[in-house]
Amino acid sequence: MEQTQFMTLARHIIEEQSKYPGATGELSKLLHDLSLAAKVISLEVNKAGLADIIGFTGDNNVHGEQVKKLDVFAHDMMVRAMEHGGHLSVMASEEEEDIIRIPNKFKIGKYVLLFDPLDGSSNIDANVSIGTIFSIYRRVSPDGSHGTMEDCTQQGIKQVAAGYVIYGSSTMLVYTAGAGTHGFTLDPAFGEFILSHPNIQTPKKSKIYSINEGNYLYWHPGLKKYIKYLQDEDKASKRPYSARYIGSMVADIHRNLLYGGIFMYPADSRNPDGKLRLQYECNPMAFIVEQAGGRASNGKQRVMEIKPEKLHQRVPIFIGSEEDVKTVEKFIAESEVTVS
Ligand code: AHG
Ligand code: MN
Ligand code: MN
Repeated sequence: MEQTQFMTLARHIIEEQSKYPGATGELSKLLHDLSLAAKVISLEVNKAGLADIIGFTGDNNVHGEQVKKLDVFAHDMMVRAMEHGGHLSVMASEEEEDIIRIPNKFKIGKYVLLFDPLDGSSNIDANVSIGTIFSIYRRVSPDGSHGTMEDCTQQGIKQVAAGYVIYGSSTMLVYTAGAGTHGFTLDPAFGEFILSHPNIQTPKKSKIYSINEGNYLYWHPGLKKYIKYLQDEDKASKRPYSARYIGSMVADIHRNLLYGGIFMYPADSRNPDGKLRLQYECNPMAFIVEQAGGRASNGKQRVMEIKPEKLHQRVPIFIGSEEDVKTVEKFIAESEVTVS
């Protein structure tokens, strides 16, 4: 097996950033702070079965879903780890209705951080992989003041970096700052993320599809046709495909990124905007997957070009291997489906 360079995340970020003339090192520090939050959340996730942290808090989040204690822990940890660094002007989290102000006692910076603190939370109790997703923008509001809603509702193409942490059989952090997608594995012995997957390239065409087929009844006709097409036999195009669906977006997309695959959370007759959130889930994943040679669309438009109208906006998503995403777009266009 070919050995990769022994490279820590901290060093990788600094080396990547030093390639950009005029880089101040602020983004490197911000990403470093994020990796620290990831390590703390990872520790907590790993002992979730031991502590009295499992189970519902009884609260509902802003989307009306039941919040578990680890979601709250991860949200609080992200805020605590990131608010004092001096790099951020504002934050927003899937778990909080409004934007999150930086307290007055801390320096206000030029970046904006959006995050899904714990993705796949329905899987927590079953020891199934879950994750944290983050997305970083440059502020558009004036320097020095508190960040605004406008900072948090920028198009995905404006992202300067994005990443996810997957708490799986090992903990990995995958990120892009616009120069490829790179994966790091946490060495639990000395607590460092080590470069294990440099410059990830996702296969252009795959044999895996990931979708919640329990919603079949509510799908649009074009999507029903597409899934049937994937299940039909045709040796030339390597069909039928295999179905793989974990129910944690981070875990489903991570697997597909490495093996090739298409992940879908479509609009349907019950959820006309789909389920997943544009700013916390879809845009960061789209940036990561595109940087690995993949594609992400809502069925007719590139995800990262959608202009958010509100903070917790949902969008349909088809993301993964380029040829597969193009094929589903074709099926959708042919059946004149409205995907909003
Ligand atoms: P979250 O735990 O942050 O609310 O996200 C859950 C999301 C996503 O991770 C996953 O792909 C999707 O919900 C699964 O939804 P279904 O149970 O409807 O398939
Ligand atoms: Mn999520
Ligand atoms: Mn979540």
